[in-house]
Amino acid sequence: MSNNLQAIRGMHDILPDQTGLWQRIEDSARAVIESYGYAEIRTPLVEVTELFKRSIGEVTDIVEKEMYSFPDRGGDSLSLRPEGTASCVRAAVEHGLLNQAQRLWYRGPMFRHERPQKGRYRQFHQIGVEVFGLPGPDVDLEVILITRRIWRALGLSDLRLEVNTLGEGPERTAYRTELVRYLAAHEGELDEDSCRRLETNPLRVLDSKNPELRELIAGAPSILDHLGEASRAHFASLCAGLDAAGIHYRVNPRLVRGLDYYNRTVFEWVSDRLGAQGTVCAGGRYDGLVQQLGGRATPAVGFALGLERLVALVEESPGTPGPALDAYLVAVGPAAEQRALLLAEELREAVPGLRLLCHCGGGSFKSQFKKADKSGARYALVLGDAELARGVAGIKPLRDDGEQVELPLAGLAGFLAGAD
Ligand code: HAM
Repeated sequence: MSNNLQAIRGMHDILPDQTGLWQRIEDSARAVIESYGYAEIRTPLVEVTELFKRSIGEVTDIVEKEMYSFPDRGGDSLSLRPEGTASCVRAAVEHGLLNQAQRLWYRGPMFRHERPQKGRYRQFHQIGVEVFGLPGPDVDLEVILITRRIWRALGLSDLRLEVNTLGEGPERTAYRTELVRYLAAHEGELDEDSCRRLETNPLRVLDSKNPELRELIAGAPSILDHLGEASRAHFASLCAGLDAAGIHYRVNPRLVRGLDYYNRTVFEWVSDRLGAQGTVCAGGRYDGLVQQLGGRATPAVGFALGLERLVALVEESPGTPGPALDAYLVAVGPAAEQRALLLAEELREAVPGLRLLCHCGGGSFKSQFKKADKSGARYALVLGDAELARGVAGIKPLRDDGEQVELPLAGLAGFLAGAD
């Protein structure tokens, strides 16, 4: 097998028996997001490395350790995008989209050289939204409402929402000083990673997954005690909105996020069914990023959900998707085989959205029926030379015990259009 080429570790093929579920999830999310008036944006998979350094932050795990960066033939450093927000901001500034409010969404693969494990991959897929030009907590609430509606559309009822606020720059600086003082006083208890973060990015110590640090972190000072009036009011208004919308949430003052661009609202939706990688969706406000990347000061908020994690949750949830095919056309005999592809064309033309597979390659009734059954189709349409000569076709239900019936060819489209 050593000569066989394989996909790169942490990068997975999504095989035909899975793509139906992926499409269902993507279609549901897209329909929900567009029902809020968001428009799709598509950006390149590759950007200059500088973009991610200046947005996500030089001393974050993503930029320090996880980017797929390479010099292109001209010598510029390029990177596969590790996330979508930075690219959206770059595109919005570059194309002058920010002279009015924008509600954007995107989907596609992202790349991070992390240690692969269940729910954590090196190529993974996100669907995200980014809103530009609206500063208030109302739009923070709107993006969270979108996520709740997506979970509902997918029948997921057990995701937990955690929210926090990171305040504004000066508030965070004051908090950071106090946090460093606290952590430095306990330096002997910190693990190696946290000692390093204490120097470079102390808020990230709060995000440590090391159970031995749990108590220490629980006793750390809280950002919520360092907020100014405006940040406090913003957060209070968001929380009141969540209450009014009946969304249960937990304020988690230790929620800091792994990317540097956030201010004020941050949030995560977490599942207990996914093990260590339980965060299905994450986001927040990043009012400083547009200016930081060369645009004029523009408030912004957004989120991204991880499709692999969502697929894993939906896969486990009760309620399987309906059959992928409406019908499988079985054709036996020279005249029937010749007619079959064209009959299938006529049916697709007459019944919008019909999912019809036309058997190709001949074979007996028995072998074609076997394939029809295996295809998961709801009906087999049966065309033999004898039926064709009489201008009829058989219809056999494949998913229940119904008898085969005969219909005139001209009645097939009406039958299939009416089958729900
Ligand atoms: P993030 O927390 O880095 O945020 O990623 C968002 C989601 O993407 C995660 O909650 C997770 O579901 C999924 N995800 C991240 N890394 C992986 C991985 N290695 N394998 C599988 N899934 C993964 C962002 O990317 C921000 N851009 C979100 C945002 C948008 N904030 C504001 N606007």
